[in-house]
Amino acid sequence: MQVEVQAVAPEQVEADVLAVPLATGGADGALARLDGPLDGLLARLADQGELKDEIGRAVVVHVDDKLGATRVAAAGVGARERVDADALRTAAAAVVHASGDFAKRIAWVIDDSLPLSPPEQARALVDGTVLGGYDPARWKHEGERPQVETLVLCGEADGLEEAAARAATIAEWTNRARDLVNSPPNEATPERLAERAQEIAASAEHLTAEALGPDEIRAQGMGALAAVAQGSDNPPRLVVLRYEPPSPARTDFVLGLVGKAVTFDTGGISLKPSLHMEDMKGDMAGGAAVLEATGAIAELGLPLRVLTVAGATENMPSGRAYRPGDIITAANGKTIEVTNTDAEGRLVLADALWYARGQGATHILDLATLTGAMEVALGDFYAGFFANEDSWRDQIVEAGEASGDHAWPFPMHPRYRRYVDSVYADMKNSSDLRQAGAVLAAAFLEEFAGEGPWAHGDIAGPAFLERSRGDYLSQRGGTGYGVRLIVELASRLSA
Ligand code: BES
Ligand code: MN
Ligand code: ZN
Repeated sequence: MQVEVQAVAPEQVEADVLAVPLATGGADGALARLDGPLDGLLARLADQGELKDEIGRAVVVHVDDKLGATRVAAAGVGARERVDADALRTAAAAVVHASGDFAKRIAWVIDDSLPLSPPEQARALVDGTVLGGYDPARWKHEGERPQVETLVLCGEADGLEEAAARAATIAEWTNRARDLVNSPPNEATPERLAERAQEIAASAEHLTAEALGPDEIRAQGMGALAAVAQGSDNPPRLVVLRYEPPSPARTDFVLGLVGKAVTFDTGGISLKPSLHMEDMKGDMAGGAAVLEATGAIAELGLPLRVLTVAGATENMPSGRAYRPGDIITAANGKTIEVTNTDAEGRLVLADALWYARGQGATHILDLATLTGAMEVALGDFYAGFFANEDSWRDQIVEAGEASGDHAWPFPMHPRYRRYVDSVYADMKNSSDLRQAGAVLAAAFLEEFAGEGPWAHGDIAGPAFLERSRGDYLSQRGGTGYGVRLIVELASRLSA
């Protein structure tokens, strides 16, 4: 999608639909100004209850030749003083849904009476239009939705253009992560993820891709990743992207991004129930996010060194599959008793984290659809973040909140470690207690994070939607959670 910023009066802008925010309490703000040439039409419709001020409602009105645009969309944003970026994202998505069937060109009025700065409005409107317009039905023959081709933002404040262009780039990469997550597991295999990393590397300068196959994974001593992979006929890959910009802002800093990329999680011998097992194609959402976010960072040319590692494998039951009771040795030499083959994500991450650290990552963030417990705790909106250093965790949580990827801090404490003690080995991969499942997973991962700051985001809830969220992420399936967070974090780290 094209994004244009035009310093023209809203009444003059040419578009199929001109969108304007409608706040509770009547037709004021930018909408009132537009109502001049419309002889008070919008105010009359608002009085009659035809326009809706609720967030997520958009009503399209024909205005003949009274404006440069053919139609006006009044997009509800709720109480004016409480309008935030999410309200605008959802309003922008509502306009796409109300007019996407006929509108190729949507214009939005930047409204000075809203409590968000013009660049903040631009960012949110671009997010909502690009993410809200995403179509997951790529594999359907009929009914392909026509796509909005151009978004015009009417305004002339400083920084508008840059904010809009940047948001568009990031949102497009977010949709690429959604494409990967939504891809069926027979297409999005570990080999395909390695190929995707090559495509990403070819798209930008200073970016290189490589992938370790099963023999190299074994040779590196990655017994945990290898154990998860051994039940599958599709071989695993440890997918690596390296971004080395010519003049990084900090020479002593390498951001390590690690992702769980289980391309299909059956649970293995500890088999999952069959109802909705198909959603476990989304168990590579963390890997998809770190790979596509690295592409965004490179396209934006952020002066920050990044090392990205995605542990890609299936988790399948078979005669060769790993078993409950197996004791395996991870790359850092620690032994793990497998008590549940469905707690495979932490095994994949164990070796991927260790590899990232060994390859020079100074500050690590991993993203993983790791536990059902986190989804129970936070639902589809927030992801929970753990870290071995509070200040690193807080930077990540703040970047997430600023980006639209909502993030909430979770605790770590050495006293949780005893629940992953094993009778036979250094640790076990799951506890039979129905307590603190997400925290225990983090306690397990900490053993593999090496020296230096490390944070872990459990994105099981917001990464893959079982149903529409009712906001701008109104499509079932992958959301691209983490791409916006990571790019925001990288921007802050390299500022
Ligand atoms: N991929 C799942 C976690 C998951 C569940 C993600 C639901 C998204 C939605 C993970 O591999 C898993 O199966 N975790 C187990 C861990 C348990 C066996 C300790 C879980 O959460 O039940
Ligand atoms: Mn599992
Ligand atoms: Zn899993």
